[in-house]
Amino acid sequence: MESPFRADVVKGKVCLITGGGSGIGFEISTQLGKHGASVAIMGRRKQVLDHAVSSLRSLGINAAGFEGDVRKQEDARRVVESTVTHFGHLDILVNAAAGNFLVSAEDLSPNGFRTVMDIDSVGTFTMCHEALKYLKKGGHGRNSSGGGSILNISATLHYTASWYQIHVSAAKAAVDSITRNLALEWGTDYDIRVNGIAPGPIGDTPGMSKLVPDEIKNKTRELMPLYKLGDKWDIAMAALYLVSDAGKYVNGTTLVVDGGLWLSRPRH
Ligand code: HXC
Repeated sequence: MESPFRADVVKGKVCLITGGGSGIGFEISTQLGKHGASVAIMGRRKQVLDHAVSSLRSLGINAAGFEGDVRKQEDARRVVESTVTHFGHLDILVNAAAGNFLVSAEDLSPNGFRTVMDIDSVGTFTMCHEALKYLKKGGHGRNSSGGGSILNISATLHYTASWYQIHVSAAKAAVDSITRNLALEWGTDYDIRVNGIAPGPIGDTPGMSKLVPDEIKNKTRELMPLYKLGDKWDIAMAALYLVSDAGKYVNGTTLVVDGGLWLSRPRH
């Protein structure tokens, strides 16, 4: 689908996207790149990264891949530094890396719970923490909204409760808190905007294929106000809005992009 945004809406910006080699993270990387940004992607799997980087480059995007695990502070630091060394500065951090599996609370080990908290929540904080000194400098004087910007990919699971997702719900609730608290502290101190996106069910993603069996997918369609799954493109357009100057007065919000699903109840 054609973008409603101007092709230079993030021109000159350098973005680092964790989990940027696949799924929603890759689509965000692609659209940021197509709209003028240089794109660094971080992930654990070299093959996935290499493939993603060549796809981005084949679109004419200035892209680089850096291997790393957001659970390791030394990896976070190294990847942030490599991004700055490679591209010269850092303006936008997108935290899209996430871990997930379906398991009942009874069967989930504390280490399984901790693993997802480590990836989604602690990983998000660690990346923000390591990127801060560059985001402070990165944006100042370079764009009209002042400092750099952070975007955290969340979910809607924790607005109510979700079967077999206690670990992810807890982790994403923490991510939303991180978004608000950093928006307050770093928005005030450094003019860095920190926002989130809570995607609903998005077709053709690892999350959907892993977590939602086909019969539930069909049922979800019946319950949804817009009667359809979202596309990765929908999330990437929301990302462009939030990280570009289009969103320059938006700070501390998590934008729900789910077609209204989280509000819906069965018709009766
Ligand atoms: C129960 C499990 C499990 C499973 C892992 N564990 N998989 N428990 N069921 N299917 C437990 C293990 O038993 C272990 O605890 C602990 O978790 C760590 O497991 P490891 O395999 O050692 O971890 P690791 O290799 O680091 O892998 C972590 C991972 C990750 C979370 C499993 O590799 C992963 O899922 N990657 C996929 C990423 C992904 O799908 N991303 C898309 C996210 S979509 P014990 O006690 O045995 O030591 C998304 C959308 C959310 O986030 C919203 C959806 C609607």
